[in-house]
Amino acid sequence: MEVVMVPYLLALLFLPLCLMFILRKRDSSSKSLPPGTCGWPLLGENVEFALLGPQKFIKDRMEKYSAQVFQTSIMGEKMAFFCGAQGNKFLFSSENKLVTSWWPQSMKKALLFPEFVESSLKQVSALKRSFLHDILKPEALKQYIPLMDAMARQHLHQNWDSNRVVTVFPLSKKYTFDLACRLFMSLVDPEEIKRLADPFTLVTNGMFSMPIDLPGTAYHRAIKGGTMVRDELMRIITQRRKELTENQETSGRDLLSKMLLVTDEDGQFMSEMEISNNIIGMLVASFETTSSAVTSVLKYLAELPHVYDQVYREQMAIAKSKGAEDLLTWEDIEKMKYSWNAARESLRLTPPAQGSFRETITDFTYAGFTIPKGWKTFWSVHSTHKNPKYFSDPEKFDPSRFEGSGPAPFTFVPFGGGPRMCPGKEYARLEVLVFMHNVVKRFKLEKEIPDEKIVFHASPVPVYGLPVRLLPHGN
Ligand code: HEM
Repeated sequence: MEVVMVPYLLALLFLPLCLMFILRKRDSSSKSLPPGTCGWPLLGENVEFALLGPQKFIKDRMEKYSAQVFQTSIMGEKMAFFCGAQGNKFLFSSENKLVTSWWPQSMKKALLFPEFVESSLKQVSALKRSFLHDILKPEALKQYIPLMDAMARQHLHQNWDSNRVVTVFPLSKKYTFDLACRLFMSLVDPEEIKRLADPFTLVTNGMFSMPIDLPGTAYHRAIKGGTMVRDELMRIITQRRKELTENQETSGRDLLSKMLLVTDEDGQFMSEMEISNNIIGMLVASFETTSSAVTSVLKYLAELPHVYDQVYREQMAIAKSKGAEDLLTWEDIEKMKYSWNAARESLRLTPPAQGSFRETITDFTYAGFTIPKGWKTFWSVHSTHKNPKYFSDPEKFDPSRFEGSGPAPFTFVPFGGGPRMCPGKEYARLEVLVFMHNVVKRFKLEKEIPDEKIVFHASPVPVYGLPVRLLPHGN
């Protein structure tokens, strides 16, 4: 009986797979879809993407299929990867005309109040989007530079000064998170910050993992962490709303107050859930990216003494022009030209964000191929940042590329472009420069593991977190 059943069971198992193959073929043959493969049924090209890493995955397919656009399937979605400066430009300028924002389900489920996902991520009104840009623009952030400096000094004093060797990535994450909690919500109590930081780490560790919600999986922990983060944020937001009403405050002292006070076209305030989703969005968008950016630039400074020397000279000239207790100002930041070019070269070679997804809202044609409505698209840093067509000797670390008019448009895109360009780019620039200033002022760095490999979490990081020996100046 059992032997007789086996062929039936096999047929039952394979029939749907065969059907999916046939349907895919029929679907692809009816339109001129971009070249490429959707890989295995159900699995798509997830395994290849994970094993090769985004950079090699994209480079290989650009060579094999098309340097303009190719198709694949990852995270269960048919996807068109747009490539080159033209591909970037096309997607950046098609926002809400041909494409709209899209995030993988796993991220949304782990992080956000599902009932508000759409309003937080998709139909964010022009007002709310411009509000985010407003509170993160240079003029608004200028006032926070002394605070950033004071916090960097305190962080280095507490965590670096008395050590001979430190591991950069976990420390830069701590600094980044403490700073965000302070600037976004005025949190200073280490216990209160820890109540957010611990579950938040669970979320960032699991949000790009396989979305299998079973006890023991990273994804399951991410969902649990997400609930704890939301509960804690709701407590903070409700408390602040009460304070604002009681004290009749009208000017926001931090980003949270500003969000509670802003109204939309119809005079409506944002709900607590929307604010929570916005803050989570900003924490997620800034946490790993900025920590990775800080870590990478310090890695290059440890590896390249000639770059370190120029950064050191620039930063010491600024330090010597001030009293020892004077904190950094906007004018000082404006003098950090070489240091910012070095940081940008680090963002080119080790970009913290790989690119971004969109969903097509209509059928359209690109480079002679049809991109069907409902497909997902991806633009990435990898088709231009190390492409010799745009950057000569692309593997060479050369900050002078950013002198003069700098790289060609849409080729250097660590923060994206167009209306959805990262609103936190100025915040990231300030954080990175202030941190660089404080580190090089105190120490020269020596890598403990000379050939430490880079791995991809949400962002690229050295596999052991970049342990470095600190060589204080004058020793
Ligand atoms: C070096 C650090 C950072 C890098 C490389 C980076 C990069 C990016 C990229 C590539 C995008 C996607 C753009 C797109 O969808 O086309 C993005 C979006 C975003 N980033 Fe950043 N980011 C950084 C830091 C920050 C910081 C510090 C904040 C907040 C303070 C922030 C807030 C956001 C937000 C809210 C979005 C979503 C914008 C939208 O969907 O309209 N980012 N970022």
